[in-house]
Formats: sequence, C-alpha cells, structure tokens
Amino acid sequence: MTVSKGSLIYEGKAKKLFETDNADRLIHYFKDDATAFNAQKKGTIVEKGIVNNKISERLFRLLEAGGVPTHFVERLSDREMLTKKVRIVPIEVVVRNIIAGSLAKRLGLKEGEAITPPIVEFYYKNDALGDPLITEEHIRLMKLAEPAVLNQIKAWALRTNALLAPFFAERGLILVDFKLEFGLHNGKLVLADEISPDTCRFWDQKTKESMDKDRFRKDLGKIEEAYQEVLRRVCDV
Ligand code: TMP
Ligand code: ASP
Repeated sequence: MTVSKGSLIYEGKAKKLFETDNADRLIHYFKDDATAFNAQKKGTIVEKGIVNNKISERLFRLLEAGGVPTHFVERLSDREMLTKKVRIVPIEVVVRNIIAGSLAKRLGLKEGEAITPPIVEFYYKNDALGDPLITEEHIRLMKLAEPAVLNQIKAWALRTNALLAPFFAERGLILVDFKLEFGLHNGKLVLADEISPDTCRFWDQKTKESMDKDRFRKDLGKIEEAYQEVLRRVCDV
C-alpha cells in the first residue's frame, strides 16, 4: 500500500506520529531516545528505533496469526511503521510471569520468583500523575474503558502472553513481564503501540542477564548490544 507522509501530529518519548493522506492510517517513526522513571532519566540508545520497529513488526505478525488483532499494517522502512489510526485506551496493561521491577519494590517481594498463573495489572496512562497503579473499580469510576472492553483487554493480554512466552523461550529468552497498550479502531479493540525491549523485560535463560531497557534504567552497560542480540534472536538475522 502506498501512503504519503503528512504532518507530525504527536511526539512522544520514543516515537513520532505522522498523519498520512489516508485518514485511517498513521506512520509511527521510532526514535533512539530513551527515557526512564517518567522521563527523569534521559539518553540515547543507538539504533534502538530500528530494532524496536523490526521486533514489533515480527511480534505483531505473530499475534495477528494467533488471533489477537493489532494496529499493525506494514513496516515501511527501518524506522517507520504504518498502522491503523486508533483511539488509545488510556490504560497501560502489564502482564507478569516473574516477580521483578515495581512489583518487587512495591510489595517487598523477592525478584526472580515465578508467578503462576501470570497476573495482569492496570496503570492509568497519565504522565502528570506518574502512571499510577489502578484497579478495575478505578477504571469504571473514571470511565477509562467499558466493562466489556476491559474484559477483552484482559483476555487478549493473557493470550498475548501465552503466544509470546513460548516464542521467546525457544530463543533462549525468559519473558519476565511486559506492557501493552490497546486502542479502538472503528469501535473495535486492537493491540497498539509497540512490543520491544523498551516495553518488555527479557532475561537470558542461561545467564539470567537483563536483555532489555533495564540495562539503561540501571546503568548496566552493553545496552545497544543487548537490543541487537534480542533483534537477532527474534528476527533470525
Ligand atoms: P514495572 O515493573 O516498572 O512496573 O514494569 C513492568 C513492565 O512494563 C516492564 O516490562 C517494563 C514495562 N514498562 C513500560 O513499558 N513503560 C513504563 O513506563 C514502565 C514503568 C514499565
Ligand atoms: N518509558 C517510561 C518513561 O520515561 C518509563 C520506563 O520505561 O521506565 O518514563
């Protein structure tokens, strides 16, 4: 499909969004900018945009084939992805297979222990408030999503996990946890945003080393190397 790139409509922390000559299509431009802790920490991860675009494409194709509809249309170039135009549901959906990150910190739990069955958490997508953890009751109170939509979100978040966890395991990576965003396209729910080392935690099966944005968050070094290694394993390049 050929579309021409229109004006910039939004610039986020990791991506720029452009409108196109098709009112139902957007172009996402993946940047190398990295932020953490609600943008208090800022940096650059060289070629991260290319890596995240390619990994997201592979994973969106996998999910579509597995019955989870996504906003993905096609990858246009190294850093550009064509998507359906959606209205983002302002909820960050986190699925956790292993205790890590904010879950360990908030509840004083030991990192590395398995969570069976996996759990789904919701965060209110609001930078000014620091994306607070919310309950289904808060979602209802603030009318962030209809109850039926929320049930669909939960089901597809768990289905995404059931499809992705074995895919990564076959490639020597443990899918510790990840964040998803959903959107409404002509009233229908679809998975949106990106799925990449920015939005997932991956631990190497053998060494248990972080292979994701935690290397940037925690100043662990070899950040670019880890992103390239995940790309190599995911896209068989
Ligand atoms: P957390 O343990 O810090 O809550 O993160 C859970 C997962 O969500 C982890 O895989 C990283 C991802 N994540 C994002 O994609 N964006 C964010 O802003 C945060 C805080 C986490
Ligand atoms: N992307 C988020 C930010 O800057 C946080 C994170 O991924 O840790 O704020």
